[in-house]
Amino acid sequence: MPGPCNLVVLLSGAGSNLQAMIDSFAHADTPVRIRAVIANRADAHGLERARAAGIETRVLEHAGYAGREAFDQALIALIDGFAPQLVALAGFMRILSPGFVRHYHGRLLNIHPSLLPRHKGLHTHQRALEAGDSEHGCSVHFVTEELDGGPLVVQAAVAVAPDDTPETLARRVHAQEHQIYPLAVRWFAEGRLCLSERGVTFDGQPLPASGHLIRP
Ligand code: GRF
Repeated sequence: MPGPCNLVVLLSGAGSNLQAMIDSFAHADTPVRIRAVIANRADAHGLERARAAGIETRVLEHAGYAGREAFDQALIALIDGFAPQLVALAGFMRILSPGFVRHYHGRLLNIHPSLLPRHKGLHTHQRALEAGDSEHGCSVHFVTEELDGGPLVVQAAVAVAPDDTPETLARRVHAQEHQIYPLAVRWFAEGRLCLSERGVTFDGQPLPASGHLIRP
């Protein structure tokens, strides 16, 4: 890929995963340039992190749009104005329409706080504890039309301790998110990671269904 890979990050909240990317791609010969950060809420703290790092920010709120399709079309126009090769969802709390997902097929990543396919959706730490899981973690995957169901790239596992609460578990999972999300983005930017008809490939070889699995 000539020059750094342009990345647009979408978020709704704290932006700690954005911060991990900012820190990871701060050096001069970085393969990734965070071109813009877009939030669907003006009060998303991630926007402040972006501004502090000198990254362009935009806010697109759904009020004023007739429906999901109309909002998503406006979002596509906004994103594509930055000509990204890759778009990363980092705590973007909206369901995306099939048209949006198709538009970014093979260049849209998400991070989810569970070892997918376990615990899709919300409240994953609580649910892992309730299920008595001995292992929990996080996953980076390509986004497809199936919510939290796209092909896996990399997962990091953490051991669940008997005295864990959703909060203590979340803290350890979050720390792993901050490792694997910049890693996956870097692999994509370096041309090592692709989504093809053969599924996810890494250095030209198909990845197993679980993606790369990192265990403590
Ligand atoms: C993370 O837990 C991520 O897995 C989920 O949303 C959260 C975002 O956290 N998709 P942050 O805003 O990056 O701190």
